[in-house]
Amino acid sequence: MADATTCDREARAILAKNDRGGYTVPTANLYPYQWNWDSVFAAIGFAEHDMDRAWTEIETLFRGQWSNGMVPHILFHQVDPGYFPGPDVWRGVGPIPSSGISQPPIAGTFVRWLLDRNPGAQPRARALFKPLMDWHRWFMTWRNEGGAIVVTHPWETGRDNCPDWDGPFAAIEPEGVEQYYRRDTTHVVEEERPRRYDYDRYLYLVKLGAECGWDEAQLKDTTPFRVADPTMTFTLLRSTRDLKAMAERFKEPVDEIDRWIAEMEDGSERLWNAEAGTYDCYDIRAGKHTGVVSNASFLSWYAGVGGDRMLEQFDRIAGLTKYYVPSTDPAHPAYEPKRYWRGPVWAMMNMLVATGLGEAGHVDRAKALTDNTRALISKNGFAEYFDPTNGAPAGGRDFTWTAAVWLAWASPNTGKTPWAA
Ligand code: GLC
Repeated sequence: MADATTCDREARAILAKNDRGGYTVPTANLYPYQWNWDSVFAAIGFAEHDMDRAWTEIETLFRGQWSNGMVPHILFHQVDPGYFPGPDVWRGVGPIPSSGISQPPIAGTFVRWLLDRNPGAQPRARALFKPLMDWHRWFMTWRNEGGAIVVTHPWETGRDNCPDWDGPFAAIEPEGVEQYYRRDTTHVVEEERPRRYDYDRYLYLVKLGAECGWDEAQLKDTTPFRVADPTMTFTLLRSTRDLKAMAERFKEPVDEIDRWIAEMEDGSERLWNAEAGTYDCYDIRAGKHTGVVSNASFLSWYAGVGGDRMLEQFDRIAGLTKYYVPSTDPAHPAYEPKRYWRGPVWAMMNMLVATGLGEAGHVDRAKALTDNTRALISKNGFAEYFDPTNGAPAGGRDFTWTAAVWLAWASPNTGKTPWAA
């Protein structure tokens, strides 16, 4: 187990090593581009020692914003043949080569977070305010099903292969996907990555989007994959609340923002699966819940909805494995402790869950989760994700967001308990 000061030093070194000048890659080789929510986490890691660099990270991300407001999940700043699918497959239509889908919109929340810690940078936050509003408006226009936010590709949720997609994927026949060669399994063992079956469907959905030039109106009518998701709904709702706080500070109108908040508060109810007693995904095409308790289910406090509805589930799951919160309920038949989003613990999700718990007054649980994540990282390093049963590191190593949330949250030296800020 490394002591905290050594971990702080290592975390800073990882951010420096993954810095490509103005943006940070999640980790070399496996993910050699700029990813949307990874970058926002990177920013709060940089904020611990370099505020200017923190703002730049988010500004670079928004340079890739499309004219319709969408902020892509990957920006391909410099082509790297070690990653598939690249820009030629995605055929994004923005100012920088990109993917055609978005990712969990946590940027509004953390721009506010940066501004609170660095009030002198108000002009930089102000300059990001309109692009943030445009992005949120894109979600509310195209991805809004009665106030629940839907995705058109699993990768958009950031929880690529979680069991929530098993039902919707069973209904998809991935016709016309050309022969392809995966690169991810040359960097990470296959047991820790999604299966071929899933990859065929991921690529089929990319093909559908690329063929219509990522026309959201057309996709809404034609895609077989339209699923309302807690990661998207809860992070967007939370980020919208933070946009409201910024709007008030900047003396900008809040009526539209208030409408969005009210809509998503109502829409969150569509994700409440009363039978299973959890928030989960809702498959719009099939008209049914997916029935999985995931780590995203526990973002309800972070979004400020549902009161303590999830508390019993949280306590049950926290007691099942040595390290928590597992990405899939260990009692679910699809749980696999090493396979990506089907079981492993993700440190950055823990930070969001702990933030919500702490803000809702569950300070003991928030603190216990922080301590648990601190032990996990200091014993096992800055891996992409971890096996909940024993903490074994999995996926990519020297990972940006694990280093970043260490510095911003889990480190006993530099970390802040966000709910107490
Ligand atoms: C994987 C993760 C996603 C992340 C990306 C880069 O696709 O599922 O959440 O943004 O890798 O780290």
